[in-house]
Amino acid sequence: MSLVVQIDQNGGPEVLKLVEVSVGQPGPGEIRIRHKAIGLNFIDVYQRSGLYTLPMPLKLGMEASGIVEAVGEGVTHLKVGDRAAYASQPPGSYCQERVMPAKCVCKLPDDISFETGAAMMLKGLTAQYLLLKTLPVQGLEKGDFVLFHAAAGGVGLIACQWAKALGLRLIGTAGTDAKCQLALANGAEHCINYSTDDFAVRVKEITGGKGLKVVYDSVGKDTWDKSLDCLRPFGLMATFGNASGAVPPFAPGILGNKGSLYVTRQTLFTHITTRESTQAMADDLFAVVQSGKVKIHIDQQFPLAQVQEAHRALEARQTTGCTILTL
Ligand SMILES: NC(=O)c1ccc[n+]([C@@H]2O[C@H](COP(=O)([O-])OP(=O)(O)OC[C@H]3O[C@@H](n4cnc5c(N)ncnc54)[C@H](OP(=O)(O)O)[C@@H]3O)[C@@H](O)[C@H]2O)c1
Repeated sequence: MSLVVQIDQNGGPEVLKLVEVSVGQPGPGEIRIRHKAIGLNFIDVYQRSGLYTLPMPLKLGMEASGIVEAVGEGVTHLKVGDRAAYASQPPGSYCQERVMPAKCVCKLPDDISFETGAAMMLKGLTAQYLLLKTLPVQGLEKGDFVLFHAAAGGVGLIACQWAKALGLRLIGTAGTDAKCQLALANGAEHCINYSTDDFAVRVKEITGGKGLKVVYDSVGKDTWDKSLDCLRPFGLMATFGNASGAVPPFAPGILGNKGSLYVTRQTLFTHITTRESTQAMADDLFAVVQSGKVKIHIDQQFPLAQVQEAHRALEARQTTGCTILTL
């Protein structure tokens, strides 16, 4: 039996309920994993609130670490007793133990703790595909500025450090001066408090009027228009989240008017459809964390039973870095 967080309907954090379920045995291509720690992500909020609609009842959570307890037929990259971590569909990681597809589960290197593994897989693989694979047509070179919104958040703090390691000059945004200080301490070269300052004006000043080759925007509705204004001709708007709400429909003509811009809407799950691509990206993440160039900041921890409080804190913009649920 396993305790698992489930919802029967969309709504606020109060719909999150702990229930007990039986776990069962893994089928072909599956494993059973006993969790040691669980990662919290903003996508969990979208699935809970109903911004992303999924069938009910719904088990939440897409990131965790633990020990492999049983291996189904055809699984060759994991064995019983392995330390492992994952970012994966289907949701259901907010639990003690589960059966799940093995292909996105990676062996966790011995020198990376379970807590770090649980915190970093979804957020770190996202930073990986954004900074290394979601590139403007002009490419990115060392010394280029990039704009990364919500720079003091889970994905954001990883991106600040990884961008610096790649030789990029990251301009962050964040909602308070304290969060800006945190982003600056973690590799951002500039950080704009977008609650008080006009970030498009500041980006123009910082880049000497040139604008940027790429903006990484996970805030969505509130930042969309001004993010487009930060781009130079042929620049890339890489939108990958909706923390402030979904971006409303727009007329493509606006991209022409603002300088023949490109827009892409990326999601991690397209990048990790195969075992090979997942492992290649995870190897990159493990290497940059093991090198010390990227430190995973676990700034909040909540016991699994306090998952409602964890969601409230994340939605209220009270968190920085990563948040985990403990068991
Ligand atoms: N597409 C993908 O593949 C993918 C994968 C992972 C994450 N994401 C997205 O990346 C973003 C970051 O994810 P995360 O889990 O690391 O979360 P997070 O950054 O730790 O938390 C979200 C942050 O967004 C900012 N924000 C701005 N306006 C907000 C609003 N109205 N309500 C709430 N927050 C607001 C807040 O920072 P400030 O207070 O500093 O503004 C908040 O801390 C999310 O939008 C998530 O959906 C996308």
